[in-house]
Amino acid sequence: MYLLVMGLAGSGKTTLTGAFAKWMRENGHKVRVVNLDPGAEHLPYNPDFDIRSIVTVEKLMKEHGLGPNGAMLKASEVIVENAKEILKHEAFKPFDATVIIDTPGQLEIFMLRHEGYKFTSLLKRRAPTVGVFLVDGSMVYNIADLVTSWMLGLLVQVKLDIPTIPVFSKSDLIKDRSLVEKVVEDPLSLTEDIEKSLSGVTAELAIEMARLLAEYRQSLRPVLVSAITGEGFEELFSVVHEAFCSCGDLS
Ligand code: GTP
Repeated sequence: MYLLVMGLAGSGKTTLTGAFAKWMRENGHKVRVVNLDPGAEHLPYNPDFDIRSIVTVEKLMKEHGLGPNGAMLKASEVIVENAKEILKHEAFKPFDATVIIDTPGQLEIFMLRHEGYKFTSLLKRRAPTVGVFLVDGSMVYNIADLVTSWMLGLLVQVKLDIPTIPVFSKSDLIKDRSLVEKVVEDPLSLTEDIEKSLSGVTAELAIEMARLLAEYRQSLRPVLVSAITGEGFEELFSVVHEAFCSCGDLS
């Protein structure tokens, strides 16, 4: 299967990719790791395939006089143009291992544009593909942060049409753990907090969002993880496995 690790810039994708791959290997599972981020500088793991062997943001910036976002856009196009060749690489063989794919830092430039959809569609044709969407737990200060960032994961799921597990990353740094735990266990219990901290139509909208999240947490429950302490890895593994089973017939 393919496991796409997605999330906003700095949410911990690369660190989690390395740590989770290590944990899976230590627990007897076969894993291959792909770096699909052409802007990555340092990787805490040895990738089985590194997109930087084909394209780098740095080189595109120099060659085309582009800024970092323009170069990332261009790199996304290069990835999709070469996708069929890229997927022939041994690392992408999906049937004897979980292939963990660390995606580009700027989610909106790759995964949320058509390029991300095209690349994911090619993966899906080959094997069941599951996403994890990282919400940086250390950046959750209030209800609005919580609900909106989790909603982004749902948007990604719709955009890419793959089961996408919401993951609150950096759990060791979460400030208001009880708030995050509430949303993980029962988003509807947030209604009272929402009414206290938001007003009028905004509160109504946030309550609707919490309802939606509550409904969809039945099939893809959120997980709290820390790539530093390893908290939540076992839970993440079992949710990924459940999602894999539910989309296994796609292969
Ligand atoms: P981009 O690819 O640049 O978008 O970043 P990313 O999403 O891959 O995040 P990355 O793994 O580079 O992590 C960003 C920062 O968060 C780094 O300083 C990491 O060391 C730190 N970090 C990541 N995961 C954790 C975690 O679970 N706990 C703590 N305390 N720090 C973390």
